[in-house]
Amino acid sequence: MNRAALVQAEDLAKIFDVSAPWLNRVLERKPRQLLHAVDGVSFSIERGRTLALVGESGCGKSTVARLLVGLYEPTRGGMHFDGQDAHAAFKRPEGRKLRRRIQMIFQDPYASLNPRWLVRDIVGEPLREHEILQEGPALRARVGELLQSVGLSPLDMAKYPHQFSGGQRQRISIARALATQPDFLVCDEPTSALDVSVQAQVLNIMKDLQRERGLTYLFISHNLAVVRHVADQVGVMYLGRLVEVADKARLFEAPQHPYTRMLLEAIPKMKHTGEARTPVQGEVPNPLNPPTGCTFHPRCPHANARCKAERPPLQMLRGVQVACHAVEENRI
Ligand SMILES: Nc1ncnc2c1ncn2[C@@H]1O[C@H](COP(=O)(O)OP(=O)(O)O)[C@@H](O)[C@H]1O
Ligand code: SF4
Ligand SMILES: [Mg+2]
Repeated sequence: MNRAALVQAEDLAKIFDVSAPWLNRVLERKPRQLLHAVDGVSFSIERGRTLALVGESGCGKSTVARLLVGLYEPTRGGMHFDGQDAHAAFKRPEGRKLRRRIQMIFQDPYASLNPRWLVRDIVGEPLREHEILQEGPALRARVGELLQSVGLSPLDMAKYPHQFSGGQRQRISIARALATQPDFLVCDEPTSALDVSVQAQVLNIMKDLQRERGLTYLFISHNLAVVRHVADQVGVMYLGRLVEVADKARLFEAPQHPYTRMLLEAIPKMKHTGEARTPVQGEVPNPLNPPTGCTFHPRCPHANARCKAERPPLQMLRGVQVACHAVEENRI
């Protein structure tokens, strides 16, 4: 076990039963359908560091997020948080203590903030809920501090969410997530709904908060350009599995997995203006009917017979963790 790790996911898996109702299945002779949204994901995050998860839509990023904060029970595997089995703890009464320490920020601040509540109540709710403070002057003062910590004014507590811009609303979500003084924040595409100029402001606030409070982040994004700003380590997901995990600098300089290479080639090249970027080729396959062997093989320029038959394990190759036969065989 990695001693410095605050968060350690081990073989995390979530299978959804998406079968038609029983009667339809019997009448129409349809088989049960199981969707492997997350299928054996392991990683660790050191205290005070950021692991970013990237991958196209549908590859299982949000499901990992929901597993980590205890919104989903894993079908297999689990998570250790600060040395304890988190999913076992979530079920016990002491689980509340753990839930305080792990908070989530969602993509859409419009949907995640109750429009009929004052900001005071939105940010103060976790304090009341976890019985940290009762309604009263101390709670107000604490809400004011939380708003200031994300660059808003304490006076903003008397307003409603619709009175703020998208970026300000996401700051309110962050203030709310910080209310219980968590050590781990799971951020699921926190800036994807925002304009590019506003994204940078919110990302900078998140980085400052991390530095000041020693926060540990799992940061989810489909956008590698955003990941470049925030991550220490990057995990690339494809159809429910990690296909590459590497330090950020290493991943951007020398991507190994053909999927990572494809994603990187699709980023607009700032330095070489005019140079055409290569759009991501092909589409993510249907997760209900995944390809055999390496699930990336239908889109991979290096696929061969072994790739179609045999699933490559995630293993240490060339100093990074990567799941690819061609890398193992030194063909690429
Ligand atoms: N509650 C659910 N029930 C059934 N299928 C789900 C559920 N949540 C997610 N999925 C499916 O699991 C896969 C992964 O989804 P998700 O974790 O949301 O991916 P991402 O966040 O990377 O876009 C998708 O195929 C999605 O349709
Ligand atoms: S295992 Fe084969 S198909 Fe999969 S990424 Fe590597 S080369 Fe491509
Ligand atoms: Mg998602």
